Amino acid sequence: MTSPITPATGAAYARIMAVGGYRPSRIVTNDEVCKRIDSSDEWIRERSGIIERRYAADDETVVDMATAAATKAIEKSGINASEVGLVLVASVTHPYPTPSAAAEVAFRVGALGSAATDISSACAGFCYGIALADSVVRSGAAKYVIVIGVEKLSDWTDHSDRSTAFIFADGAGAVVIGPSDVPAIGPVVWGSDGEQRDAINMTQSLIEYRDEPGPIFPALTMQGQQVFRWAVGDMAKTAQRALDVAHVAADDLDAFIPHQANMRITDAMIRALKLPAHVPVARDIAYTGNTSAASIPLAMERMLDDHEVEHGGTALLIGFGAGLVFASQVVTLP
Ligand code: UT7
Repeated sequence: MTSPITPATGAAYARIMAVGGYRPSRIVTNDEVCKRIDSSDEWIRERSGIIERRYAADDETVVDMATAAATKAIEKSGINASEVGLVLVASVTHPYPTPSAAAEVAFRVGALGSAATDISSACAGFCYGIALADSVVRSGAAKYVIVIGVEKLSDWTDHSDRSTAFIFADGAGAVVIGPSDVPAIGPVVWGSDGEQRDAINMTQSLIEYRDEPGPIFPALTMQGQQVFRWAVGDMAKTAQRALDVAHVAADDLDAFIPHQANMRITDAMIRALKLPAHVPVARDIAYTGNTSAASIPLAMERMLDDHEVEHGGTALLIGFGAGLVFASQVVTLP
């Protein structure tokens, strides 16, 4: 049967054209965190690798940080904001179920009229966004896509909970994705395991809090050891599959940029992947903390700025977190 529909046609391939990060100005030391929990600077450094993190100002929003990061990425990409066809904001800390953060960010960066939507994939959100943007550019649904990972986790953390208070932090990172003549984003390996939904959860829903408020405003909870085991076991295998489907050997990587969950998780993944010692590894968590969806683009920007990896290098990305959900792909760095 013939169809009356003409399909969209897009680019042969897609690539990351530019990355831009936004780090809030307020530095929060481990000693400051320890004023509210029974812990120490030494324990936090040893168990997580975190030396300090950044918190946004009280009046600084998810949309403010996303706009700052996206504006920087658009400027570096050389495109005009009016050419952007889709804005994707990956975040779990935008405080409004509706309207989306993305619609406001699109307006504020000058991507007037572009499609816009939010992604809820926690710490995997940025890699989900890359996968979706890659498909969108190749399908022709948009020529240029902005993917932003942004979190204000300090608003949704119980600062007296010693299992989460030292981990989470705030920030934003954005990339512009557009057409490419050569492959520059490998196939995504992604999935979910909803059976482990309680591994990272909230103390209460907002409706439960309205009807019967608990002692604190709804905050993140984490079964740290459960998440740690899953990340070290299953996620190293996921990262290996992302290498395999892209036909890239670990030896050919110029950078490994995993979600900055915990420095010990990163080290365990390096061992499981048998990553050669010459491959630089993102360790932005030391001065940025765990910024969930923002951690990979922030780490990517830092590695490029510090010349740990060259522009055009090949990097393995992997995001994993609440859901549980995960996504991994090999990319060419902008
Ligand atoms: O980004 C989303 C995904 N999130 C992650 O990937 C995080 C994964 N999990 C982790 O990173 C780690 O589980 C944590 C860093 C959260 C915790 O480290 P851990 O080595 O798993 O600690 P633990 O829960 O096994 O606790 C070990 C010990 C316990 O004491 P005992 O029973 O051995 O005497 C805890 O009571 O450390 C104690 N402890 C602390 N001590 C000082 C737990 N939290 C603290 C603390 N300060 N903040």
